[in-house]
Amino acid sequence: MSTSSPVQEPPAATLSAASLHDFPGTLVLVGAGKMGGALLEGWLRLGLEPARIAVIEPQPSREVAGLTARGLKLNPAINRAREPNALVIAVKPQNAAEIMPWLAQMGGTATVVLSIMAGKTLDFLAQALPPGTAIVRSMPNLPAAIGRGITVAVANERVTPAQRALAHKLLVATGAVEWVDDESLLDAVTAVSGSGPAYVFLLAESLAKAGAAAGLPPDLAARLARATVAGSGELMRHSPLDPARLRESVTSPGGTTAAAMGVLMSEERLDQLMRDAVAAAARRSGELAD
Ligand SMILES: NC(=O)c1ccc[n+]([C@@H]2O[C@H](COP(=O)([O-])OP(=O)(O)OC[C@H]3O[C@@H](n4cnc5c(N)ncnc54)[C@H](OP(=O)(O)O)[C@@H]3O)[C@@H](O)[C@H]2O)c1
Repeated sequence: MSTSSPVQEPPAATLSAASLHDFPGTLVLVGAGKMGGALLEGWLRLGLEPARIAVIEPQPSREVAGLTARGLKLNPAINRAREPNALVIAVKPQNAAEIMPWLAQMGGTATVVLSIMAGKTLDFLAQALPPGTAIVRSMPNLPAAIGRGITVAVANERVTPAQRALAHKLLVATGAVEWVDDESLLDAVTAVSGSGPAYVFLLAESLAKAGAAAGLPPDLAARLARATVAGSGELMRHSPLDPARLRESVTSPGGTTAAAMGVLMSEERLDQLMRDAVAAAARRSGELAD
């Protein structure tokens, strides 16, 4: 292993200095489950006043219910949540059909609708909402739950620059945000960052099994694999080096890591496997979309 440290200064601007202290109006969150709850937590962290938020959620968590003491409105009548600046849809896609007619009555001309529902296209949302509604479709991923997610967003033509900036601030509360103009990229995005956390968990599982096969007690192998994947991810987050440079920095010629790389990289084995996996996920995302 090389002794040179791959860790340097953290890249600038990976964590945005966004603030929601100056959020101008009101916001409605529909669905405060895992993702909606993570967004809400992030907004509060960025300084959004609970009194500016209405949450529609049939089974609110204790934390969400507790926020009513700070002015958050929980399951208000529709006329008390009308025409918010942002209407964030964070229910499961299978609940979309039941809520859309109802949400259609809530939005106003100044409202930007921000959906995080997997597979629900801008077209589906536009069909269900009043003509001319400003809509942002986005795809977050699981590390959003700890503020380390990455979300890809796409806006329809009705979204103004100010609404896009607002949507960006709302999404950045759970991590990084990337914008694309071409909605068809969302299938590949889903296959890379949406489903990606599962590939990383599988890597930890697979490394643990290989460790046990190499003679380690299985529980020790599992602890080593888990800490190695988590620690390497954290190191990558703090390093300005790209993954290939990081890999090279720990691969001495003729050493132990190089021997393993010879197996993983010969004939692009891992690359080919990953390409097939991502292509399958992207295909499935396209099949499920509406
Ligand atoms: N989790 C992820 O990693 C991930 C990644 C990318 C995208 N997403 C998207 O994020 C969205 C939310 O996923 P999630 O994992 O957060 O799901 P979740 O934990 O099940 O949250 C959805 C919440 O919406 C509530 N809900 C159901 N019907 C409702 C209604 N009519 N009005 C208001 N609230 C209602 C649910 O309440 P009940 O529990 O009572 O049904 C639940 O609390 C999904 O569309 C998913 O595609 C999630």
